[in-house]
Amino acid sequence: MSGANQSSVSEFLLLGLSRQPQQQQLLFVLFLSMYLATVLGNLLILLAISTDARLHTPMYFFLSNLSFVDVCFSSTTVPKMLANHVLGSQAISFSGCLTQMYFVFLFVDMDNFLLAVMAYDRFVAVCHPLHYTTKMTRQLCVLMVAGSWIVGNLNVLLHTLLMAQLSFCGDNAIPHFFCDVTPLLKLSCSDTHLNEMMILTEGALVMIAPFVCILVSYVFIAGAVLRVPSLGGRWKAFSTCGSHLAVVSLFYGTIIAVYFNPSSSHSAERDTAATVLYTVVTPLLNPFIYSLRNRDLKGALRRVVGQKPFPA
Ligand SMILES: *[C@@H]1O[C@H](CO)[C@@H](O)[C@H](O)[C@H]1NC(C)=O
Repeated sequence: MSGANQSSVSEFLLLGLSRQPQQQQLLFVLFLSMYLATVLGNLLILLAISTDARLHTPMYFFLSNLSFVDVCFSSTTVPKMLANHVLGSQAISFSGCLTQMYFVFLFVDMDNFLLAVMAYDRFVAVCHPLHYTTKMTRQLCVLMVAGSWIVGNLNVLLHTLLMAQLSFCGDNAIPHFFCDVTPLLKLSCSDTHLNEMMILTEGALVMIAPFVCILVSYVFIAGAVLRVPSLGGRWKAFSTCGSHLAVVSLFYGTIIAVYFNPSSSHSAERDTAATVLYTVVTPLLNPFIYSLRNRDLKGALRRVVGQKPFPA
């Protein structure tokens, strides 16, 4: 069935976000700035956490894992888009496209799993503060992070292999800035039912399970916070969870809007805007939302940036 037409498309065209040259210039500057800010912000956090022994706790280990994943996440899409703009090209090879898809969704999964692990960490810290150190052991942390990488890779491998089975024979223009699943499925001339079914079942499960963990953690956290007698204490507990909650809502809101909508109500522009949010803006905002309200991390960042490079 497949194979006959396989060779007729050897590359795809990434049409990008706009066809008007002036808008393209503007988007280039915008995406370049957002990319540099993402890399810089997340690297600063990695550096601050690794150099400050007081930040060697599970919460900060997970946060530095998240920063690492966010740098990788932006790096799978934005540099290719910027390079194509500079080179005046829209091409991406067939294997390049599948590779890009693999890593985009690996890092989406990782963001997803790490946000759930961080929610569990907050749940233990707020609801079982006395058992925190005995529950969140080094082994458990490493196990949760390693497990996330393994499950993420297996999940993405499944969907990438299913995509590699498809034939693409006519149109090869992707009206997007990276190789996303939905536009690729639309371009394929084979039967995509199996792919769609797997996305809506296994793919959805991998997305929804961590989301449910986060919701359950927050139900318990909310219960514990409401039992705090003083208003000041409640606010303090809420403000650290509020940043996590903001990141979580931004991330899941956009993903649900893009991938789990009935296709009849899809609007290409709205989808693209939502994709830009979760692929470019979320990794940019994560370090800022998460850390700038945190006094310990701010102190470590100040030391890294070197307000006092030569302490007396
Ligand atoms: C990620 O988390 C693990 C487990 O806590 C930790 O050992 C590791 O150092 C972290 N990695 C990074 C890049 O921070």
